[in-house]
Amino acid sequence: MTRLKTELFDLDFDPPLILASGILDQTAGSMENLIEKGMGGVVTKSIGKEPRGGHPNPTVVELETGLLNAMGLPNPGIEDFTEEVSELKDRSENVPIIGSIFASNAEDFVYIAEKMVKNGADVIELNLSCPHAEGYGASIASDDRVMGEILEEVSDTIHEPILAKLPPSTEIDEKAVLAENSGADGVVCINTVKGMAINLETQMPILGNEVGGYSGPGVKPIGLRCVYEVYKAVDIPVIGCGGITTGRDALEYVLAGASALQIGTAIKYRGKDAGEKITEEMRTLLNEEEISDLNTIVGDAHG
Ligand SMILES: Cc1cc2nc3c(=O)[nH]c(=O)nc-3n(C[C@H](O)[C@H](O)[C@H](O)COP(=O)(O)O)c2cc1C
Repeated sequence: MTRLKTELFDLDFDPPLILASGILDQTAGSMENLIEKGMGGVVTKSIGKEPRGGHPNPTVVELETGLLNAMGLPNPGIEDFTEEVSELKDRSENVPIIGSIFASNAEDFVYIAEKMVKNGADVIELNLSCPHAEGYGASIASDDRVMGEILEEVSDTIHEPILAKLPPSTEIDEKAVLAENSGADGVVCINTVKGMAINLETQMPILGNEVGGYSGPGVKPIGLRCVYEVYKAVDIPVIGCGGITTGRDALEYVLAGASALQIGTAIKYRGKDAGEKITEEMRTLLNEEEISDLNTIVGDAHG
């Protein structure tokens, strides 16, 4: 039997397919359902300190090769969400739970991270793509000083592994090195790609927020490039994300350097059992190539 299981930070991801943040992950029940249908780990919706309503409608536009969303990080706030994490922990003991968190400063990141791990999150994922307090719309990852400070303070406070989730950028490899040097145990590449859609009839932007994040098959070449460059730059594990819809996509990411994979928009195209389908396709392709262990081909595209 082809081995797909991956061990990261002393946790087993079997298979190494993880539900990405923001997709059917607001309740313990929906995350458990996705685990039962083949996900080897889950990332929660990004949770902030206070409840937040998100952006005005429309928040999602369907495009030919993906989705454009401007949800605006709607979430119940950490106090209410801890219940979902502890419930999921009770029900799905052996499957790693990754708590995604966002804030605009280090103090709030630390506060939310502590609550997440206290209630059962095995790993913390820092969503560094959200706007920072003084940034006038710029993301936290665009400010090296703030990003470094957040990682240092969170890693000084909690003992659980920390993932830095980076937005796609030309210099993503430099950001990954900064994350590694500031205490990150792994890097997730990529968050959505900034984009927009315009309605010709109304001659106006379609999204309520005007601009949003692009995801799905269309972003795969961008995600692959980011993983490839980051893998070369850091010694910590890289988790690939962005447009992974089939087993073939997943294996391309592994060859680029991903040790595990996050699956988001594919749920829309392949259904809630996308995890099972992608796993089966990976297994078939690996069998054809006579590769008995997925872990042996991580980064092989680097020669
Ligand atoms: C509707 C929607 C909501 C999302 N919400 C979050 C979020 O709360 N936090 C986060 O870090 N990423 C969020 N993302 C980004 C995904 O986690 C992922 O990085 C991105 O969609 C690329 O992967 P994909 O092409 O497999 O969807 C969201 C994506 C979508 C489509």
